[in-house]
Amino acid sequence: MPIRAGSYTDELVQTAKTIASPGRGILAIDESSATVGKRLASIGLDNTEPNRQAYRQLLLTTPGLGEYISGSILFEETLYQSTTDGKSFVDVMREAKIMPGIKVDKGLVPLPGSNNESWCQGLDGLASRCAEYYKQGARFAKWRTVVSIPCGPSALAVKEAAWGLARYAAIAQDNGLVPIVEPEILLDGDHPIERSLEVAEQVWAEVFYYLAQNNVVFEGILLKPSMVTPGAEHKNKASPVTVAKNTLTMLRRRVPPSVPGIMFLSGGQSEVEATLNLNAMNQSPNPWHVSFSYARALQNSVLKAWQGRPENIEAAQKALLIRAKANSLAQLGRYSA
Ligand code: 13P
Repeated sequence: MPIRAGSYTDELVQTAKTIASPGRGILAIDESSATVGKRLASIGLDNTEPNRQAYRQLLLTTPGLGEYISGSILFEETLYQSTTDGKSFVDVMREAKIMPGIKVDKGLVPLPGSNNESWCQGLDGLASRCAEYYKQGARFAKWRTVVSIPCGPSALAVKEAAWGLARYAAIAQDNGLVPIVEPEILLDGDHPIERSLEVAEQVWAEVFYYLAQNNVVFEGILLKPSMVTPGAEHKNKASPVTVAKNTLTMLRRRVPPSVPGIMFLSGGQSEVEATLNLNAMNQSPNPWHVSFSYARALQNSVLKAWQGRPENIEAAQKALLIRAKANSLAQLGRYSA
């Protein structure tokens, strides 16, 4: 059993198991206020607090969402918001059996000494912020750092990404939050899939090395990897079978079976592509729960349907349920287009 006897160990293991439950995945709506502003701008809305609240209310109050969604990652603002009727979003989620999660990193800044790469800030004060978020109802956390293939990646950038993720994971667990470990390997570049596999293996080897050094309880974490695909500008696209084969090769070589859930990011794939790739990975049994933690691949058609109009809320919620159900079926390996 767990290698570290922290006061939250049993709860962490239970939380991770609940999030990684059959046919369910994560709805990521933790875009920073700047990033959600871009989404709102795409449908002609200003980036105001009421508009952000209205959008997140639409998503979180979708009837029946908890059947397919086990957790949702929020930005700090959303964790403290309520519906227009005055019910806290946290209570809305609890009633729907959706665990509240919280993005805790403070974003990317240039990494001096590297090849134009970045590192992720946020460790200062993290323990007290995690304790506050737990009090507010959060039960899991996310820290996203990135690795760029066209920029190298340099040994320094990989080490920094892995060390930061491991320190964050230990601090989150110490405060009762299941850490989602997310070294996003960006899709940018014209490299073939073999190069993505090589870099992903390098990154995950280092991440697990430092997770172990920091005495992180593997049964109480979730991973959020990029799927192993060719670079976005590569001349050929890979089929779902090829993406699944390469991604599973990486996971089998690098991820211990004690990790309960692998919740993929969509990373700019289309909605259907992200579903088909996930479905292909679940055609045979895996040691882990292989599922989704999508933002764009769950929200794109919702935004299009909504257009910021109250009379479109029902249609937008239907669009969300369609994608959530499709990915739920893909988690079970039963999706067909
Ligand atoms: P995408 O699915 O849009 O890549 O976002 C994932 C993410 O990191 C948000 O948590």
